[in-house]
Amino acid sequence: MAAAGDPVNLPSLGSRNLFPELATRVYANHASLSPPSQPVIDAVSACLAQYARDGMGCYATEVERRERLRAQLADLIGAPAQDLALVANTTAGVLAVALGLPWRRGDRVLLFDGEFPTNITPWQQAAQREGLELVWMNADDFRTDRAGALEKLEDHLRAGIRLVAVSAVQFTTGQRMPLEAIGALCRRHDSELFVDAIQAMGVVPLDVEACAIDYLTCGSHKWLMGPEGTGCFYARHAAATRLEPNVAGWLSHEDPFAFLTRSPGELRYDRPLLSTARMVESGTPHTLATAGLEASVGLIDAIGVGSIFEHVQAWHEAVEPGLIERGFASARMSEVDGRSGILSVRTDDPAAGPAWSQALAGHGIASASPDGWLRLSPHWPNRIDEADAVLAAVDEILVGGGPKVR
Ligand SMILES: Cc1ncc(COP(=O)(O)O)c(C=O)c1O
Repeated sequence: MAAAGDPVNLPSLGSRNLFPELATRVYANHASLSPPSQPVIDAVSACLAQYARDGMGCYATEVERRERLRAQLADLIGAPAQDLALVANTTAGVLAVALGLPWRRGDRVLLFDGEFPTNITPWQQAAQREGLELVWMNADDFRTDRAGALEKLEDHLRAGIRLVAVSAVQFTTGQRMPLEAIGALCRRHDSELFVDAIQAMGVVPLDVEACAIDYLTCGSHKWLMGPEGTGCFYARHAAATRLEPNVAGWLSHEDPFAFLTRSPGELRYDRPLLSTARMVESGTPHTLATAGLEASVGLIDAIGVGSIFEHVQAWHEAVEPGLIERGFASARMSEVDGRSGILSVRTDDPAAGPAWSQALAGHGIASASPDGWLRLSPHWPNRIDEADAVLAAVDEILVGGGPKVR
């Protein structure tokens, strides 16, 4: 096992040296799930080995690790560490707010058609229970007519919207939403802004202050490149104080370990609940996933999200023209601020996406086909010259009589 800090363990753009187990020739499916790097595998194994050796003796070390990880993740979104909590997945953050806001009957929540259901289902449930009105916009309008869509959004906000819930990046087309403009409009019209960041954090620069984001949630297993089962939830301090503690548990109290570590008389049930994002850390966390996430975020920090974004754009630019030449239509926006880690294309036949993704898998190229798009999503370990392999595979599929483009 290589030690941390060993040059062999240093990440480098365009190099798979930290992914010795990765069998797929071109892995361009980080928007679905990132395969763990060797440092992630080592961190999880070391954590498990330490538990095997010391049992409860590890606990204090792991409390410290969580403290470090909150600060690392907060740094990635420009937030203070005390406003960030570790959660099980993206959904946990949506639920904390959908269940926690003190809703009034008739409050209006603005959602986007085309979003991944994580950022829809909990709001629908809240709407049924609390008598909320759901207002819908089409997410793809922000790609095809951004200025027009922002105007329409402002019309809705003017009519009164309690909260806007949106993904930073659309999982189908890769459209990066104009969060700065959306945040400024929300501020102007006194609405709250909730962001699902799982398709952005780790590959797209994000700043909760610049975008006036009130709440943000993100799972670990895509662009953060950690194991499944953990993630983070951010709530601006003032926004966190508005949340009712409807998902609180024993760890949501101030000084929750007092009754386990101090003299008798500390076992009380009236300790105040935290009024920060940390309130949502309700019970025992997924320690192994936390250890893995600390390692993967360490690699992202070592390279820098800005450099990762540029590298991924270079990969897209190497692949996209060849796909367009062969007849695919690309969803990638011409404006850089509308781009992300995702390059999605489609053929004249909207049903052909899954067939293309399967055919590429047969040539050692991992992609995905959400809602019919053919989605390619490389990350920092992908080599720019993988474009040759992708385009050669497309040609072989066409020559072999596979799915058509036109
Ligand atoms: C935009 C988006 N949000 C959320 C998720 C997943 O949510 P969760 O982490 O709760 O499983 C995905 C993909 O799995 C996604 O693409």
